[in-house]
Amino acid sequence: MELSDIEKLYLHRQSCRAFSDREVDEAVIKEICRVALLAPSACNAQPWQLITVMGGKLPEFVKAVQPMGMNKFASDAKALIVVSEDRSGGVMKVGPAVRENPYIRNDLGILTAHLIVAAEAAGLGTCILGARDENRLRELLGFDSGMHIPHVVAVGYPKEGYEIRKKVRKPLNETFFLLK
Ligand SMILES: Cc1cc2nc3c(=O)[nH]c(=O)nc-3n(C[C@H](O)[C@H](O)[C@H](O)COP(=O)(O)O)c2cc1C
Repeated sequence: MELSDIEKLYLHRQSCRAFSDREVDEAVIKEICRVALLAPSACNAQPWQLITVMGGKLPEFVKAVQPMGMNKFASDAKALIVVSEDRSGGVMKVGPAVRENPYIRNDLGILTAHLIVAAEAAGLGTCILGARDENRLRELLGFDSGMHIPHVVAVGYPKEGYEIRKKVRKPLNETFFLLK
């Protein structure tokens, strides 16, 4: 694989805000989650879980990611993937400082980045939804109040003809620096 292949994938990946009626197979969702879960995490603690919501359970969760009338397009998503922390412990023995896990937000963000790219490679559209009612999500999932749910990812096939927007990013000379 070449860097240009990755670039193509990144250029094609965009926040999808128009989903088609096409159903998404739950096996495809499981596969993209499996691949995304190869993401790195501090001390390999993997302080995360991905909870996919589909079918009859979907509408209640969709409401929770539409605070103040936001994210209306989420009503057309075929699945929501809740990116949540998991405190059940990692695969490595870690000291108390790391067990507190100050890196948890980074780890969950990195996982989400892997997830949206994996979904793109599978032909799915995604949109990270940071606008959400986290309390309601915790309630729906039966989580205690300390559980962190940084965002939810809306998933579906992009609507036919949905245009690939030009990426608007800061110029490289404002974001890339070389010190030597
Ligand atoms: C943490 C986070 C939260 C976001 N929350 C929302 C959201 O609630 N609704 C939405 O439409 N887009 C949301 N986005 C998508 C961003 O607006 C989008 O990634 C950004 O404008 C760049 O566009 P692109 O993803 O199409 O390249 C979120 C993105 C991130 C990383």
